[in-house]
Amino acid sequence: MKVIIVDDSAPDRRLCRTLLQEVPGFQYEFFDEPAASPALESCRAIAPDCVLLDYRLPDMSGLEFLKRLRADGANPDIAVVMLTGIASETMAVDALRAGAQDYLAKDSLTSQALGLAVEKATEKVALIRALRVERDRLAESVAEKDVLIKEVHHRVKNNLQVIASLLRLQAAKVADAEIAEPLHESQHRVESMALIHEQLYESADLRQVDFAKNVTILLSNLLDSYAASNRIAGAVTLPRSGTSGAVVLGVDQAIPAGLILNELISNALKHAFPNGRTGAIQVGGGHRGTDIELFVRDDGAGLPGDFKPDKGNSLGMQIVRVLTRQLHGDLKIEAGDPGTKFSVVFPADLKKVTEPVRGAKHSARPAVR
Ligand SMILES: Nc1ncnc2c1ncn2[C@@H]1O[C@H](COP(=O)(O)OP(=O)(O)OP(=O)(O)O)[C@@H](O)[C@H]1O
Ligand SMILES: [Mg+2]
Repeated sequence: MKVIIVDDSAPDRRLCRTLLQEVPGFQYEFFDEPAASPALESCRAIAPDCVLLDYRLPDMSGLEFLKRLRADGANPDIAVVMLTGIASETMAVDALRAGAQDYLAKDSLTSQALGLAVEKATEKVALIRALRVERDRLAESVAEKDVLIKEVHHRVKNNLQVIASLLRLQAAKVADAEIAEPLHESQHRVESMALIHEQLYESADLRQVDFAKNVTILLSNLLDSYAASNRIAGAVTLPRSGTSGAVVLGVDQAIPAGLILNELISNALKHAFPNGRTGAIQVGGGHRGTDIELFVRDDGAGLPGDFKPDKGNSLGMQIVRVLTRQLHGDLKIEAGDPGTKFSVVFPADLKKVTEPVRGAKHSARPAVR
């Protein structure tokens, strides 16, 4: 073990050396330094296991030496035992704060105390080094997993886009609008899922989606797809990421929530503005206590008299109901003046709801109010 003794007093340096040589079983290689500046150089050159450091040195204080040693990235793993003339608790605290592993008063130095201090100090440093290595290994492994997750989202998105393209091509092949339309609807559903995966691999987090951004793209895509941009104004009023109350969803919530909005926006575009009628669609919401609200509001024609919110065999509203249930949420439908507002309110923390409650059978909230 290499030990540098930094002390301006030659007799004190000799004492330390003699005491350590008496420690049974330890092999030390000693280096003497009478001042701090050359000692810092030696630390770089020799890379000792331990420094015995006098509290008072001619060219700087022991604390200053410690600060410089710790600030020097080249010496992260050197153990330091601080030695001083007078035993003082404040000095001890200062030394430990500045990065010393131990502290001994020179007036009561024994071979055993010094040997133990050096042994423990180097052990501590070895532990810190092992922890650092483990931390770096974990960070590397997390980074590798992030790359893999990214890759998976990328592939899922690509595959979904291929399916969407196939549906679009198939729709283009059929002359009958009644067959082409459901194919287009399915294409939009698949695209809304692809959009979430695209955002997931583009986001720094990889597990969460800035939902306002997602909705903005979704709305713009649907307005284009229904060739409605010139007569229907679309607005997203969800708080954006980086602003207070931003809606950030994990993939388990983002996929169903995205599909629900896809249905509700498509419905507004398809049904609320017949015969070239003009108007506006707003998608909004935000955090409501422990819940999240998402709504789609239009100022169009309003729902037909025979519209049944909780029944009906049409696929769109069925999808909305099933996915609202999957989010453990409620669906609310209100007549506007004019138009219609559809809102879905679901718990922000999906995990809390899906965790089984001890002693009570979990029941989802009713899907439709
Ligand atoms: N925003 C809206 N404004 C006016 N009517 C609407 C609106 N949303 C839904 N509707 C009415 O509710 C009906 C049911 O909607 P739903 O989405 O279930 O079916 P769809 O859109 O006709 O077909 P699909 O199953 O392909 O979605 C629609 O046919 C329409 O009459
Ligand atoms: Mg529909």
